[in-house]
Amino acid sequence: MQPKVLFFCNFIFYVSTENSELSDACEEKCQFKDETITSSSIKNWPTTCESVCGNLYLTSETDLSENQLKETFGNLKYLIGSLKVVHTNITSLSVLPKLQTYYCDEEGLIIAHNPMLTDIKIMEYWYPEVRPCILHIYNNSKLDSTHLCENFYVIQQDLDVYGNARDCGCSNVRLHPSSLPFYRNCTRITGGLRGVLKISEVSDQTDLSALSNLKSITGNLEVYNTELQNLSFFKNLQTINGQLFQEFSITSIHDNPKLTRLGLDSLTTLIPMEKGFSIAIANNHPDFCVSTSEFQLFTKVGFHTEQFEATVCRNLERNDGQKVCYLEKLSTLDSNCQHIIGDVIINNDNENDVETLEDTIMIYGSLTIEHTANLKDLGFFKNLEQVGTLSKSLGFNDKAPVIRFLSNEQLQNLTFPRMRYASFSVFSLEKQGFVEISDNSQTLFQHRNDCMQYQTRLKSSEIKYNGHSCLQLEPALDSPAVERSARCEIVIISILVSCLVQIFSF
Ligand SMILES: *[C@@H]1O[C@H](CO)[C@@H](O)[C@H](O)[C@H]1NC(C)=O
Ligand SMILES: *[C@@H]1O[C@H](CO)[C@@H](O)[C@H](O)[C@H]1NC(C)=O
Ligand SMILES: *[C@@H]1O[C@H](CO)[C@@H](O)[C@H](O)[C@H]1NC(C)=O
Ligand SMILES: *[C@@H]1O[C@H](CO)[C@@H](O)[C@H](O)[C@H]1NC(C)=O
Ligand SMILES: *[C@@H]1O[C@H](CO)[C@@H](O)[C@H](O)[C@H]1NC(C)=O
Repeated sequence: MQPKVLFFCNFIFYVSTENSELSDACEEKCQFKDETITSSSIKNWPTTCESVCGNLYLTSETDLSENQLKETFGNLKYLIGSLKVVHTNITSLSVLPKLQTYYCDEEGLIIAHNPMLTDIKIMEYWYPEVRPCILHIYNNSKLDSTHLCENFYVIQQDLDVYGNARDCGCSNVRLHPSSLPFYRNCTRITGGLRGVLKISEVSDQTDLSALSNLKSITGNLEVYNTELQNLSFFKNLQTINGQLFQEFSITSIHDNPKLTRLGLDSLTTLIPMEKGFSIAIANNHPDFCVSTSEFQLFTKVGFHTEQFEATVCRNLERNDGQKVCYLEKLSTLDSNCQHIIGDVIINNDNENDVETLEDTIMIYGSLTIEHTANLKDLGFFKNLEQVGTLSKSLGFNDKAPVIRFLSNEQLQNLTFPRMRYASFSVFSLEKQGFVEISDNSQTLFQHRNDCMQYQTRLKSSEIKYNGHSCLQLEPALDSPAVERSARCEIVIISILVSCLVQIFSF
């Protein structure tokens, strides 16, 4: 059988048997309790068992030949324990000829400091039973790991490969103080399904200037367990291209206690995968915030998030020179504010001041238009492209709409002249663009179709019109489908008539 097919069969076998058979396998006779494999401890290895419970550590104390090791581990398929090969003289990992799965503890799998090691091909058939598992492969001075870096089954795992004769180059890069000296100054980093660019254990004192060459990342960026204050060492990073499979690894910035900003000033393009872009931000400095430009970039692609512990930064400067204002009251707001931070409420007290909103492109907050007496349409929002909020203001609950039209008297036309992106709330992610329209004096939608069209135009997942969804409204009697088929009939009849006329005129 082809090794890859074999791999898949074993994988499916493992998924289907789950862990019950594994714990049964831990019977007394298949356990190994010694620290490392040596000429004396090897006597305790249960050579007849396919599944062995215990750790398998080959180290500098391992005083056995490769043949002896191969004989001992000839039956081992499932290691219910962790695996380490460090400071040995072995040349090939084929000393574990039948191994298929191993468990992975917090340290991950370690293959390091083996000066003779050249052959790790067998790793293509190893599968960590506990995932995500970091595969640390470093400082093996004769090892060319390039083919491993490209192997489809291996790149589904999380690689940490550096300091070998050859490493993964500009794919699957993990940067931490030990790997940094081996980093090739990449302009583009690509990678597998889990990895791509991960940065940890560095601080503002670490020289990360090599990253200033980086222009694009295809896959996910993860920055965690660092002492960084911001990520502005990415001076030229323009594009992050989302990946399809994001089981463990989404663009994620977490556990950086000093991080207050992203500072990704050059980032202009996020290319989402089919279902959007996944971002997680958690456990950073309590004051962590995203700039208006960054927030705009994220909300345009309609990102997904499980955690987004951030506010919008209050600083009023933007690199593009556009004007940012902090909203206190509409009547005292400067005119020409292109970005407004705060919840915008238009009501009977301030509906005459709405011209101040003519330049507004983005509102970082919610938008409520309620109890107005004279407002007829939204023509004053000449430039508004999106409304998005990160804060739970206005006593909004988790399912609150970001845009609301409530109890207005004359308001007849709810069309925003330039709205281009669905409204966004970090608190109701499954309902992006949720808009509530209630108790207004004018009939805003005659029929289901008017409501649906409005919903489509706003790229909204749901419109709630007087407590009903669009689909709950009455369909129009002469719906366009009926009209179209009627029009079609008229066209056909008129063609027939003109044919008859021509025939008879001869
Ligand atoms: C590896 O080989 C070197 C040089 O022959 C030797 O000094 C060392 O003890 C060997 N290490 C192991 C773990 O066998
Ligand atoms: C790299 O491995 C060699 C053995 O090949 C060892 O002597 C050396 O200390 C290791 N280097 C580091 C930085 O750990
Ligand atoms: C980013 O952090 C550095 C310190 O590492 C600081 O000098 C710089 O001003 C910060 N930049 C931003 C935009 O916060
Ligand atoms: C990588 O960039 C750093 C800083 O810009 C520089 O000092 C180093 O020589 C570069 N290394 C390579 C291999 O180009
Ligand atoms: C509704 O308002 C939009 C934007 O102001 C405008 O383009 C459109 O003509 C208006 N529709 C009607 C029926 O007045």
